[in-house]
Amino acid sequence: MYLTKEEERMLDGEEGYAVKKSMEILVALGNIYGAEKLIRVGSVQVAGVSYHNLGDAGLEFLNTLAKDGKVKVLTTLNPAGMDLEDWKKLGISEKFAKKQNLVIDAFRKMGIIISCTCTPYLIGNLPRYGEHIAWSESSAVTFANSVIGAKTNREGGPSALAAAFVGKTPYYGLHLEENRVPDTHVDVRVKMKKFSDWGALGFSIGKRAENKIPYITGIKDVGLDELKTFCASVVTYGSKPLFYMKEITPGSEKHQLPREKITIEDKDIKEAYESINDDVDIVNFVCIGCPHSSIKEIARIAKLLENKSISPNTEFWVATSRQMKQLADKRGYTEIIERAGGKFACDTCMAVAPLKGRFASVATTSAKGCYYSRHNNMKTKLGSFEECIEAAVRGKWS
Ligand code: F3S
Repeated sequence: MYLTKEEERMLDGEEGYAVKKSMEILVALGNIYGAEKLIRVGSVQVAGVSYHNLGDAGLEFLNTLAKDGKVKVLTTLNPAGMDLEDWKKLGISEKFAKKQNLVIDAFRKMGIIISCTCTPYLIGNLPRYGEHIAWSESSAVTFANSVIGAKTNREGGPSALAAAFVGKTPYYGLHLEENRVPDTHVDVRVKMKKFSDWGALGFSIGKRAENKIPYITGIKDVGLDELKTFCASVVTYGSKPLFYMKEITPGSEKHQLPREKITIEDKDIKEAYESINDDVDIVNFVCIGCPHSSIKEIARIAKLLENKSISPNTEFWVATSRQMKQLADKRGYTEIIERAGGKFACDTCMAVAPLKGRFASVATTSAKGCYYSRHNNMKTKLGSFEECIEAAVRGKWS
């Protein structure tokens, strides 16, 4: 890979240890994937923030980098393992909180914005169409590529961090126009009836498209929150972190319909629900906000919870960014949700909080949330906002 004089100096350690290590990571990646050079990035999103996933080895790695590492571009953080301000209410142990705070201290020292959300595009890290960025977090990567039209590979935590310290990323994969050509036509012949159908659709397309780039037709109307949940699902269950939706996502007009064709019908959506859903009666945990809830979604939850009470046997979380919660405070939504017995889980989420062994079952609006909850040994139910909130109130699915 060609390196400029400045990049060579960085690789030689002239800008310190963190930059040198980062250059080593980027050069190794570039050589593996055949990148000809490094390119500048407009922003970085760093995943791998929860102490639950990092452990002491990860914390040590971050502390070493934080000694002299400072990010060169706008860099935001993915969710951590707990609400950074009110972790006790979520049942997080003191021991975990101490370690998680050390992780956050290291990121703060590096100059990273402690945003702790997987929807950075809702709180100010919004790339422009065509902009090169280096993001980790699969749902955010898919949203950035497919809904915004920015260009990013699906970075891992360390490669995103390396891009932040250098301000550049290797020029390969989805940064190149030739690798952004759709290769399978997905004709959706389904009338979407409820919010969770978008997660079920993501499941079906992800499974059927496998590692291809879908060009999706047949969708007439879709909102941002539906796209958000679809992005999380489609990449979790199989396809590349890029799709085109005809006349909806930017750039779709530039491409021809691929020859290879998949048709999605009602039976595929039904099968998706059958595969995602377990046999659940008692619901111990309900979580809405995967990806993190928008203010519109929080408003919807508040409306559904007005004058209701969550079952004493059920824990109810609204996962969101702290900025969104602050808006919810001002609009009175927080009061309604908390009066009903719900909890805000800011800065964290159902997948990265240490939940293993705490709940036997979960109901959620998110197909991705179901996938990760199974890893946490929970039985899962995917449902609409109405179904999930009803389940939280009754403490039962039906
Ligand atoms: Fe976000 Fe956590 Fe879901 S990172 S997409 S809320 S699994």
